[in-house]
Amino acid sequence: MEATQFRYPLLLLLLTCGLAPEVVAEVEESSGDPSAAQEPVQLTDVPAAMEFIAAVEVAIIGFFQDLEIPIVSVFHSMVQQFPDVSFGISNDSEVLAHYNVSGNAISLFRLVDNEQLKLEGEEIENMDATKLSRFIMSNSLRFVTEYNPMVMLGLFNAMVEIHLLLMMNKASPEYEESMRHYQEAAKLFRGKVLFVLVDSGVKENGNVISYFRLKMSQLPALAIYRTLDDKWDTLPIAEVTVDQVQNFCDGFLKGKLHKSEEKTPKEEL
Ligand SMILES: *[C@@H]1O[C@H](CO)[C@@H](O)[C@H](O)[C@H]1NC(C)=O
Ligand SMILES: *[C@@H]1O[C@H](CO)[C@@H](O)[C@H](O)[C@H]1NC(C)=O
Repeated sequence: MEATQFRYPLLLLLLTCGLAPEVVAEVEESSGDPSAAQEPVQLTDVPAAMEFIAAVEVAIIGFFQDLEIPIVSVFHSMVQQFPDVSFGISNDSEVLAHYNVSGNAISLFRLVDNEQLKLEGEEIENMDATKLSRFIMSNSLRFVTEYNPMVMLGLFNAMVEIHLLLMMNKASPEYEESMRHYQEAAKLFRGKVLFVLVDSGVKENGNVISYFRLKMSQLPALAIYRTLDDKWDTLPIAEVTVDQVQNFCDGFLKGKLHKSEEKTPKEEL
């Protein structure tokens, strides 16, 4: 039991060790260019808010009693930083009541696991742009989420404990078709397995690939793991098909490992 509890943060640590400096720099660089300002969508009634949330994989809504408080401008600054996330804002009392907001809150709604994460109370009072952007970056999980060290944090906080990684070079000619199949398979495992893409063309992702004891020459490959007990399995694949992904996931869910030996992380980790 203790060994498991000890290994869990090690995996997390390993996979997030590339984190700190670059991510922070990126966050600070991209914030605050007012000329490129984009606005969150104003949600003026409950049906509009519901429709907005239902239409996208990830929606982030600011629920504010008062639009003059400092957190509102921090919220606005996120919109241009995350162009592929949908931002809404509301100060309508019925909308706030519907979403059970009594003060001010920022909520993230995601489709992949029906999760709703809410920042409120003190968390909102102490929120700054760096913290809010980390929250968004790590928790914006989609049917297929592209890996980066921040995403790893969000994956480990998710209720879904089984994660599937496709390690593949985004520049390869098969990438687009593979991704279509991978997306399709991801929908079949909604709420059961979270799907991640690891671009093997990104040098920093090498540590993820070597963690699963894969070599570049074996890619593309699938790796699946369960955060609960660090159990994992891998499968190098010639091409990504829905069937192959589905069989691999089903097998793992049934407790079958692709290779007979029990795989545990390397001792020196
Ligand atoms: C919401 O904000 C708008 C714009 O600041 C304001 O005109 C409106 O009165 C506010 N509504 C509520 C319910 O506070
Ligand atoms: C608000 O809270 C009630 C009672 O806890 C719950 O049934 C309802 O689903 C919540 N509404 C939303 C939109 O989360």
